[in-house]
Amino acid sequence: MTSGAPTDTAAAIAVAPTPQRIGVPREIFPGEKRVATVPDVVTKLVKLGFGVVVETGAGDLADLSDDAYREAGASIAGSTTELWNNSDIVFKVRAPTPDEVALMHEGQTIIGFLWPAQNPELMQQLAARKVTALSIDALPRTLSRAQKMDALTSMAGVSGYRAVVEAANAFGRFFNGQITAAGKVQPAKVFIAGAGVAGLAAIGAAASLGAIVRANDTRAEVADQVVSLGGEFVKVDYEEEGSGGGGYAKVMSEGFQAAQREMYAQQAKDVDIIITTALIPGKPAPKLITAEMVRSMKPGSVIVDMAAEQGGNCELTVPGEAVVRHGVTIVGYTDLASRMARQSSTLYGTNLFRLTEELCKTKDGVINVNMEDDAIRGLTVVKDGEITWPAPPLVVAAKPAAKPAGPAVEKKGGHGHGSTGPLPAKNLAIIFGVGALAFWFIGAYAPAAFLGHFTVFVLACFIGYMVVWNVTPALHTPLMSVTNAISSIIAIGALVQIAPPDPSAGGRPAELIHWLAFVGITLTAINMFGGFSVTRRMLAMFRK
Ligand code: NAI
Repeated sequence: MTSGAPTDTAAAIAVAPTPQRIGVPREIFPGEKRVATVPDVVTKLVKLGFGVVVETGAGDLADLSDDAYREAGASIAGSTTELWNNSDIVFKVRAPTPDEVALMHEGQTIIGFLWPAQNPELMQQLAARKVTALSIDALPRTLSRAQKMDALTSMAGVSGYRAVVEAANAFGRFFNGQITAAGKVQPAKVFIAGAGVAGLAAIGAAASLGAIVRANDTRAEVADQVVSLGGEFVKVDYEEEGSGGGGYAKVMSEGFQAAQREMYAQQAKDVDIIITTALIPGKPAPKLITAEMVRSMKPGSVIVDMAAEQGGNCELTVPGEAVVRHGVTIVGYTDLASRMARQSSTLYGTNLFRLTEELCKTKDGVINVNMEDDAIRGLTVVKDGEITWPAPPLVVAAKPAAKPAGPAVEKKGGHGHGSTGPLPAKNLAIIFGVGALAFWFIGAYAPAAFLGHFTVFVLACFIGYMVVWNVTPALHTPLMSVTNAISSIIAIGALVQIAPPDPSAGGRPAELIHWLAFVGITLTAINMFGGFSVTRRMLAMFRK
């Protein structure tokens, strides 16, 4: 009996490991409204086998009540100490304060925005507590499978949107152009410096509000993305490649910077709103908007400096505040994501859930910090009390990822308008061969008159294809009205017939043709001038 007991116990432990508890404390950083998980995500964590405990009031500032967490399957801890003591894994938004680190116990795991490069002391403190720490901001963003865990991207997306909302709040006019009984309102002009994640989100938001949006980035490869979101890419008149690898920019030459300053100075005079997001990771934010440029802006203009925390892209920004300088409101808030707390908590919670899935592939409520996995290795900054940051660089990750891009692009090109993807030489040869054979057959057997008409038909198809196919779909309606107007060329037939009646033709029939030609010319004239005028008005809607 005594000999059987330990074996049974060992078997029981092997079969059912004790599920771990994920703890979610209330964020204590002043003004922080986000929370590291939301009730919808709690349900999923519970399904993954984890217990979840949430500190009372943790979700209050994001409009998430204790009851909502309870209904989702979490238990509520009445105090901060109870929460930290009863958690195996702690989900946080902001890096823990020294007081919070003091609450940690050996073997515990913490996940959050820890910013290891900026917080070397925190790394030492965490190592001293013999814990494991995963810094979500250290995730290798170039790994495509890491995208679902990329909290920096989700937060920057929310912040870019919010930057536009802040700009709209401080700006005393509509964003879109309007024609009202009281007069015409010009659309607002928005210039966005830096078209990374936050910049692109800002372009989309400002364009959807109806503003004229222009953007600039040192990486020329983002130009297409700017256009696809409804913006116009403004190039610096200086040839230099701005990509520093890994999707990030590099510091540009003096010559480029001078040319860029000149272009920005022109934009500052012209636009109503500037949103700056320019940053190279690990470097102070480049000073793109000088005090002189601010002075040159129209009174009532707005600058939202998203890089305020890294020193700001504008010389006059005050981090964390909105100030008015030379009649221009300069918004330097550093908590834009927190200002949309529920939305950003939901996205952040989902990023952490995806990470938990990667950490718990066995779905048994126990995480495994697998240092062989590139994504997990990248974000593990302390492992069982040992500092493991920085992770060795990912050398080969980019190459295999590039491979599938080839067929994907080819496939896309084959369907859309304006497809320019080259057909394989073999296919082209087959098409030409079949075409030539068909022509020979028609030429050999069809009547001569038919051949003439057929040639005109083929040429018309070809010219029609070349004219229409490369037109942007949005312009198809004005294209139809202009072709309709051009079709009024049939007026030539009526003009030929309107000549004075030929007496030799003998009276009425010729007079009838004369009148019919007159009616024909009148109608086609309406069609022609009406068509061109409608086209002009339609195109005017695209020219803001
Ligand atoms: P990102 O790295 O995706 O984008 C930065 C962009 O700036 C890149 O496209 C880069 O090519 C461009 N850039 C760099 N130097 C430039 C220059 N001299 N001229 C023009 N473009 C230049 O970064 P992300 O995620 O879009 O964030 C942008 C900024 O917003 C960062 O400073 C970030 O810290 C900040 N941020 C601020 C928040 C807030 O609450 N204020 C919240 C989230 C992000």
